Amino acid sequence: MMIKGICVLNGDVKGTIYFDQKSETCAVKITGEVTGLTKGLHGFHVHEFGDSTNGCTSAGPHFNPHNKEHGARTDADRHLGDLGNISASGDGPTAIDICDCQITMFGRNSIIGRTVVVHADPDDLGQGGHELSKTTGNAGARIACGIIGIAKV
Ligand code: CU
Ligand code: ZN
Repeated sequence: MMIKGICVLNGDVKGTIYFDQKSETCAVKITGEVTGLTKGLHGFHVHEFGDSTNGCTSAGPHFNPHNKEHGARTDADRHLGDLGNISASGDGPTAIDICDCQITMFGRNSIIGRTVVVHADPDDLGQGGHELSKTTGNAGARIACGIIGIAKV
């Protein structure tokens, strides 16, 4: 039972992100593109709430149902929503192609109905030594966000 999700990012930058998971035990494939990013790394996360009443702020903190610390996508100790950084060349759209084994589109920890946020600054992956490193990766302002919905297969 394949589930496909879609997220349209709006804000200072625009984008469309697709999430595909073939079954509950498979990794989630994340593809798509973001346009308008400044050159460099930009934090890229799933935040807890699918709420945009007060813009991207209402999405709340990083999705973290297991009460872990902020980390890199490849860390065991990470928020479920920690997808790391996307890297923009500053010239043309930024392609997204990530495969993640921790997030899921099934069950109570599903990412469907939550929010993707793109940040102004790099996510330090918990290693920056800043007071925010272990909670947000010190990734700065939320420059775009969008709620993950169920896509037409
Ligand atoms: Cu974030
Ligand atoms: Zn995090």
